[in-house]
Amino acid sequence: MLRALAEALLDRGFLDVTVLDLSAAALAAARARVGNLADRIHWIVADITEWEPPRPYDLWHDRAAFHFLVAESERAAYLSRLKRALKPDGHAVIATFAPDGPDTCSGLPVQRYDAEPLGRTLGDEFRLISTQRREHVTPWGSAQSFQCSVFRRLPALPAS
Ligand SMILES: C[S@@+](CC[C@H](N)C(=O)[O-])C[C@H]1O[C@@H](n2cnc3c(N)ncnc32)[C@H](O)[C@@H]1O
Repeated sequence: MLRALAEALLDRGFLDVTVLDLSAAALAAARARVGNLADRIHWIVADITEWEPPRPYDLWHDRAAFHFLVAESERAAYLSRLKRALKPDGHAVIATFAPDGPDTCSGLPVQRYDAEPLGRTLGDEFRLISTQRREHVTPWGSAQSFQCSVFRRLPALPAS
């Protein structure tokens, strides 16, 4: 079985790992999956569009959550949290369905992205570092096209 990202990060020596999801059930399943390591991870049940980041982080990783935000107001709220949560020079890794991916997931509409439109959505404070296409095979065997892009948050400009 593939290791969960949080588990892999702890294995590599990262000490401060937080996992956030809207769904308490999803987090309970994730906790069960990592077993004894669960106590070394900060777990947060929250809607990312309403979450108040308690402190800044070095890395933001989002696989298949942002694409559920189809309303402009939801994307703006997400971006506001991302900017408050990510340190200048920090990195955001954002994976979404690609333009040839599904247009719904779990019965909900999604917004599909290529790297450049995603970068435009994030705005001038983020620079695209790299991007990859991925075929994700679901547990029921269907392939879904994803893009996974890495952005660097530009350092704050000195006050003039
Ligand atoms: C397709 S799953 C991906 C789960 C996990 N990131 C992964 O890659 O295995 C999408 C997840 O996004 C979460 N999600 C959707 N909208 C969210 C929101 N507004 N705030 C936080 N989590 C959200 C869902 O609860 C769900 O667990």
